[in-house]
Amino acid sequence: MPSATDQKKLATKILAKIHTSSSRISQEEYADLADWVHELDYHYHTLDNPLVSDKEYDDFFHGLKQIESENPSWILSNSPTHRVGGAVLPVFTKGTHRLPMLSLANSYDPEDLIDFDQRIQNFLKTTSKFEYFCEPKFDGLSMEIIYENGVFTKALTRGDGVTGEDVTINVKTIKSIPLRLNSKKPPALLEVRGEVLILKEDFKSLNQFQEKEGLPTFANPRNAAAGSIRQLDSKISASRPLKFYGYNLGQYQGIEFSSQSDVYETFKELGIPTYSQATRVCSDIQEVVKFYKDLEETKSKLPFDIDGLVVKINSRALQDELGLVAKSPRWATAAKFKPDTAETVVEEIFCQVGRTGAITPVALMTPVKVGGVTVTYATLHNQEEIDRKDIRVGDTVVIQRAGDVIPEIIRSMPEKRSASSTPYRLPVHCPACKSLLHQHPDEAVVRCLNSECPAILKESLKHFASRRAMNIEKMGDRWIETFVDSGLVKSFADFYGLKKADLLNLDRQGDKSADNILKSIEHSKKTTLARFIYALGIRYIGETTAKHLADHFLTIERFVGATEDELMKVPEIGEKVAQSTLGWLGNPSHRNQVKDLISAGIMVAQAKVNTSGPLSGKSFLITGTLPIPRDQAQAQIQESGGKLLSGVSSKLNFLVAGEDPGSKLEKANNLGVTVVGWSDVLKMIENP
Ligand code: IVH
Repeated sequence: MPSATDQKKLATKILAKIHTSSSRISQEEYADLADWVHELDYHYHTLDNPLVSDKEYDDFFHGLKQIESENPSWILSNSPTHRVGGAVLPVFTKGTHRLPMLSLANSYDPEDLIDFDQRIQNFLKTTSKFEYFCEPKFDGLSMEIIYENGVFTKALTRGDGVTGEDVTINVKTIKSIPLRLNSKKPPALLEVRGEVLILKEDFKSLNQFQEKEGLPTFANPRNAAAGSIRQLDSKISASRPLKFYGYNLGQYQGIEFSSQSDVYETFKELGIPTYSQATRVCSDIQEVVKFYKDLEETKSKLPFDIDGLVVKINSRALQDELGLVAKSPRWATAAKFKPDTAETVVEEIFCQVGRTGAITPVALMTPVKVGGVTVTYATLHNQEEIDRKDIRVGDTVVIQRAGDVIPEIIRSMPEKRSASSTPYRLPVHCPACKSLLHQHPDEAVVRCLNSECPAILKESLKHFASRRAMNIEKMGDRWIETFVDSGLVKSFADFYGLKKADLLNLDRQGDKSADNILKSIEHSKKTTLARFIYALGIRYIGETTAKHLADHFLTIERFVGATEDELMKVPEIGEKVAQSTLGWLGNPSHRNQVKDLISAGIMVAQAKVNTSGPLSGKSFLITGTLPIPRDQAQAQIQESGGKLLSGVSSKLNFLVAGEDPGSKLEKANNLGVTVVGWSDVLKMIENP
């Protein structure tokens, strides 16, 4: 293989050739560039030792994409560009494992390890010691990845052990998994088995992102990993921070392994990620028991969740001799760790009202330490969950904190319950406004539907003012509660009508702090359309969706007038978001709120300004009926760089008049504004 320096030189030359387009790129050059990007991926994601800067990487990657878009027949099935996802499947096809994927015998008691060792001695009719390979029991999703002649060809989930689901398109997006093995003479076949998981750090960020986007959060990293792999749209999988660690073999040909230590070493050489930092080769079972205890102590420092120790006879020859019992190998076992749990008492169950009116029951408990943190509250999710676990006020409950996951009540202890205890029922009326609560037949959650509920108002206002929405910096939650309780703020627009005297009338309100609040309110008026849409708090519209809507509609007015057809044209917007948006916009009180905000002086910057288009620097206003729908005409003007104004003034360059133009035409004529027809605009676009 050429050295990295030579490869880089070659790739840089190919890139230059693409950009100058002086001569055609050959298929061989395409393959060379693909090789180079593979190499860069391997150094970056697997070795954690990037060879080039991010910018340089992007250049090579985009070069490769460009060649592929011009020569689709050349695209290699394992091209590095496939990692970004894009393919969407109707369903997953099934695939049969060449060798079944077994399960491990397991126990929570480390003393059982001694029995395990004893059983092996008995089976092999010997009293000698065995060398054991110990490794973490990863708490993810097991996966088989198949390499044929060194090329990644397929990935199957475990499924029922015999047949799994073909999730190749999604596993390809996991950047640390090589699409080609790092070997000059790759084996004819190598089935790598291991675990797909999400690191604890990444899990936190993923849930923060989900929350911000108004999407459901995941209960734990395992669920998140499993959910991410089972996406039919591979772009979603590609966006999730998935990792893979190999630890076992399926079928293989043209390669040998002498021991489990050798499996780890060979995987590493081939570029397959392994986690060897938490493995140990032990010379007898006593050492294994000691390692189990060590790992239980230190497991919280690992970057991912583990639920125990896997112990394997190290020698592959001995493994073969030992074979299987039922559906588990005789040569391996799992010693699980007990999760951190604690007992405490539920003192009270109260209900929180969310921004969307969702009622969430929360248990207030006698504070107790579990897994190193003091816990006082635990969400009970909904009535179904409370019934399933039968949790009542006064109950002694077991709370568990597994890994970095938010502590939860796993069960109640009815044996410790007093005879007078009764099951908990969610209130029938909203705790804040006393209106009757509703439950949609398809949902587990109960909601308050009162549009004037003060609790919903407070949460909506908090969202509106939050940093990623309108960013009213000095407006803390406490202030919002005071404003609502005192009746000063009843809607978004009321923030903008607050006067200094109003603030000074409130308790403990100093002059300086009043000025600061008013300043930050004023400041927030200049915003972007994306932030504005996000701030409205429409269900399912998170930051990213808001950005897509803003890029499409460009002005508040067009967004407010959106039709279902047009919403469905916006990238990444489906039926659910479209319906929720239409429902919100269809409510007259919501439309009034938007109107009030505009009158209050909210200024939204143009979402997408095209400064190089044929109409750039010119302003337009449309009046009357044009030969094409007005919103299309507006979009075309903006796409060509033109600016749309909302009224006739001397600043207006062109009034575009259609049929029945009305009073605007007269005003434009009086001010000397140029009046044109739609065909003139088209001419300006075509012949600038
Ligand atoms: S070896 C016979 N090693 O545990 C199966 N499995 O109960 C041999 N697992 O489905 C598998 N960490 O998903 C092996 N270090 C590890 C493991 C591990 C987690 C999972 C695997 C398997 C399950 C078996």
